[in-house]
Amino acid sequence: MSILFSPLTLRGTTFRNRAWVAPMCQYSSIDGHPTDWHLVHLGGLARGGAGLVITEATAVTPEGRISPQDAGIWNDAQAADYRRITDFIREQGAVPGIQLAHAGRKASTAAPWLGGGPVAASDGGWQTVGASPVGYGGWPAPTELTEQDLTEVVTAFADAAVRALTAGFEVAELHAAHGYLLHQFLSPLSNRRTDAYGGGLAGRSRLLFEVVDAVRAVWPDDQPLFVRLSATDWVDGGLTVDEVVEVSKQLAGHGVDLIDVSSAGNSPEQQITVGPGYQVPFARAVREGSGLPVAAVGLITEPAQAEQILTDDSADAVLLARALLREPSWPQRAARELGDEAYWAPQYERGKPRGR
Ligand SMILES: Cc1cc2nc3c(=O)[nH]c(=O)nc-3n(C[C@H](O)[C@H](O)[C@H](O)COP(=O)(O)O)c2cc1C
Repeated sequence: MSILFSPLTLRGTTFRNRAWVAPMCQYSSIDGHPTDWHLVHLGGLARGGAGLVITEATAVTPEGRISPQDAGIWNDAQAADYRRITDFIREQGAVPGIQLAHAGRKASTAAPWLGGGPVAASDGGWQTVGASPVGYGGWPAPTELTEQDLTEVVTAFADAAVRALTAGFEVAELHAAHGYLLHQFLSPLSNRRTDAYGGGLAGRSRLLFEVVDAVRAVWPDDQPLFVRLSATDWVDGGLTVDEVVEVSKQLAGHGVDLIDVSSAGNSPEQQITVGPGYQVPFARAVREGSGLPVAAVGLITEPAQAEQILTDDSADAVLLARALLREPSWPQRAARELGDEAYWAPQYERGKPRGR
């Protein structure tokens, strides 16, 4: 029996295994509503055997979208459209999770295949908001959010969580990584504020804790809450691993159940050392320093590699992104390679390799 295919329970939710789908933007929504694409894409990943399927960054306000085609859950009609998708994911035995997000100063950009980069208001974009009026690289400067605006941001996350619940999601993940709004507050590169939301780590993490507390207050006690963090900015003078470990430790006391440990995204100056499992040491550091369960992510592509990360006690689960785009049924192959069993939909059973 592998660890990868052993169940994990967090609060009242049991995941059938520890091979999970990382959130992946699809730029395929219409006014924030999920489409047939999402049913097929997310449904296919659940059918492929993953234990948890986390949807893409889903905006809690329209201006929190990365692109005009981003997913959103700022109104009830969007939430209602997710029900069919969460039902299907659950029917396939996987847990449906949603990543709640606000892109802050990295909002109003074009989808990658439409050229990426900032979209002007005249071309369907919008004025971005952020911790401080400091643009990402050469991008337009965001409008600095006032304390009143921040109260509204916190409420938007909590309201989105309530809608996610009615939509049938069982896990909520707050996106506080990759240079998006909550990360913009955490990082001294983008947060130059002199009020209670800036300065030392306590000020820079204040918004994150307010959002966590507001979401935890509406998210049921028996359902898990995750936070995705960038463990480092990979820039001198940026957010450090030690700071992220400290924040994670405190998050443990705010009802967070797992830290999803990623890195980078807040500066075009970042110098990343990329290689297989390059973010796993960060996951391990957060796990050891916070005492919380963690998920590792980033260039985890091989079943034996995934199993090793769990055997080493570096993480409690692994999240895969690109490997699952190449092969949505990666968990089924991984189980076979590890001498274990994964879920197969009965409709597909005849395709299951035997005696090999
Ligand atoms: C197409 C695509 C879209 C992504 N969108 C998101 C997203 O919406 N939210 C997020 O936190 N990370 C996003 N990521 C990052 C992944 O979740 C993951 O952290 C990253 O790709 C590294 O994992 P991998 O090496 O398994 O691909 C995206 C990655 C890809 C490839």
